[in-house]
Amino acid sequence: MMQYGGDYNPEQWPEEVWPDDVARMREAGVTMVSLGIFAWSRIQPAEGVFNFGWLDRVIDLLHEGGIAVDLATATASPPPWASAIYPELLPSDENGAVYWPGSRQQFAPTSPVYRRLAAELVTRLAERYAAHPAVTMWHVNNEYGCHLNLDYSDAARDAFRVWLEDRFGTIAELNEAWGTYFWSQRYSSFAEVFPPRKAPYSHNPAQLIDFRRFTSDALLECYLMEKRIIRASGATQPITTNFMGAFKPADYWRWAQEMDVITDDCYPDPNDPESFRAAAFQRDLMRSLKPHVPWLLMEQASNALNWRPTNAPKAPGQMAALSMQAVARGADGILFFQWRQSRSGAEKFHSAMLPHAGTDTRTWREVVALGAELGDLPDLPVGARDATVAIVFDWENWWAIESPDHPVVLDYLALVQRWYAAAHRQHVQVDLVRASADLTGYRLVIAPQLYLLRDDGAANLSDFVSSGGQLLMTAFSDVVDEFDRFRPGGYLTQLGGLLGVGVEDFGALVPPDSAGPGQSQAPISSPAGEIVGTLLAEEIHASDATIVGTFVGGRLNGRPAFTVNSVGSGRAWYLATIPDAVGTGSLLAYLFTEAGIDPVLAGLPTSVEVARRGDVVTVINHDSTPVSVTVVGTDLLTGENVESFVLPAFGYRFIQSPEVSREA
Ligand code: GAL
Repeated sequence: MMQYGGDYNPEQWPEEVWPDDVARMREAGVTMVSLGIFAWSRIQPAEGVFNFGWLDRVIDLLHEGGIAVDLATATASPPPWASAIYPELLPSDENGAVYWPGSRQQFAPTSPVYRRLAAELVTRLAERYAAHPAVTMWHVNNEYGCHLNLDYSDAARDAFRVWLEDRFGTIAELNEAWGTYFWSQRYSSFAEVFPPRKAPYSHNPAQLIDFRRFTSDALLECYLMEKRIIRASGATQPITTNFMGAFKPADYWRWAQEMDVITDDCYPDPNDPESFRAAAFQRDLMRSLKPHVPWLLMEQASNALNWRPTNAPKAPGQMAALSMQAVARGADGILFFQWRQSRSGAEKFHSAMLPHAGTDTRTWREVVALGAELGDLPDLPVGARDATVAIVFDWENWWAIESPDHPVVLDYLALVQRWYAAAHRQHVQVDLVRASADLTGYRLVIAPQLYLLRDDGAANLSDFVSSGGQLLMTAFSDVVDEFDRFRPGGYLTQLGGLLGVGVEDFGALVPPDSAGPGQSQAPISSPAGEIVGTLLAEEIHASDATIVGTFVGGRLNGRPAFTVNSVGSGRAWYLATIPDAVGTGSLLAYLFTEAGIDPVLAGLPTSVEVARRGDVVTVINHDSTPVSVTVVGTDLLTGENVESFVLPAFGYRFIQSPEVSREA
């Protein structure tokens, strides 16, 4: 069943308003609300004092109205009394400056006091509501790591040392892994190690990446602590916390294993005409994190935001189009931040399902219409593994590749999204995977800039090619091990044999607008069409590979740029640079042909999105120009048989079609 609703913050309103909330929710087709996310100070006004009466009443009221509750544990924002009594629970930045109360989320995730207070609150909540029939899901904390990506407090320092001791056992092991004879960094004990606080110059990159791993683990420990408490109370409902798409501080591949259902918050900028593509990436990532369980869009905006410098409204119809994009890409629920627009506080200009201006508003009408449509939509197939193309996206690599002191500064997420966007423009469905994932069923795997490549990932990619898959590796890949050390024997030490190439050197390309004489672009001549290399142009040699494309002009004139090596029935491609957006599209089109990959639907403009869930194809027009679409099947919203139709601006259709099945 499709869920519909939003964050509900009744603590911001007098109790007389609540019945009106429930009545309006029913009018809008709301099925579920996330309750109490920022209600800690209302539930627990002082240490040891709990006030559940109001929460009992509001949960009962919702239940009577047939609205299910995704009950929050309320631990995201400790009340002011908590830090007044225990200032040590406050987090710090890298300079030691404290983040004070007065906003939200001011807690050090590793603080023992914070964890004790959170545990006490969650214990009481879980015991009280585990068996309440209204509660159908648990919403742990909120957006772990948001605002405060990294905490450098004394609590973090102490916990980091314990984490390192667990990881390495002895300080000698740490010294070896981190290469601490460099710059006289050798440690005598774990008590000498700090988080990477402000230092005169670059930190040890191994310390940086371990601090990232530690931070992701520390946040996850908070989640797991609460999850254990909820389960210990006898609660059987699914437990989750809301993700934020590709969010750098938390390795969601690791986190997803601990979620019963993936939930996500997504706020594309209506002023950015390409933001729907980035949103599509985010939806596909969420589906890929747990492919066999439909995810929920936990937060989006009904209209404008408050937190960008300019908060453009959504165009008429755009909110529904973006909502249906989530459904098309595997979501079984659409929720908003928030139900009723706040009267005070920092988010009073943030749109809501029920606007401050009331029900005679476009926003309200669109919210009601969407609720009705979602209610009419039949259950959709799960949508797991409908793609034959996968793009590797890896958090550890993200952390490592963006360390300072590299040949060139790379924005890993943007580079991965460039490949994704190119596939999206060509209407080819894509999953996101880790290098070590089960790759059975994919025909083509693209691994952009896999700088940090673990042994298991390398072995898995090799097996994929040996079993007949096609793999594209790109420049600056297979460079370091998990400690950000070069491996003995140069570069591409794990996959050079598979690819049939060796990398001699990386070769930064300077930014096109820089004044110096350095080469800024590296054009390539190849059967894949116009490709211009950017950022890096590697000096490679082909040992076993066939050279498909060469650099043209500049210092690498005539040297190999694009190669292929056949391994059994599989093929391993290597591109010794990073193509620009146009080149990425050309190259991908070439590889799709080579690997026999078809679009979900052919011949549509790039502003039309196409996605599949099993035998259901969704087409969405993200542009203001109407578009003709041809696909034979049944329209799931109207029940009509269709062959072709015109999609107006922000129009969408869900078509169950025998034509759209996964090719053999
Ligand atoms: C999210 C947060 C919500 C609300 C929303 C505003 O990050 O979870 O509580 O602040 O942003 O867009």
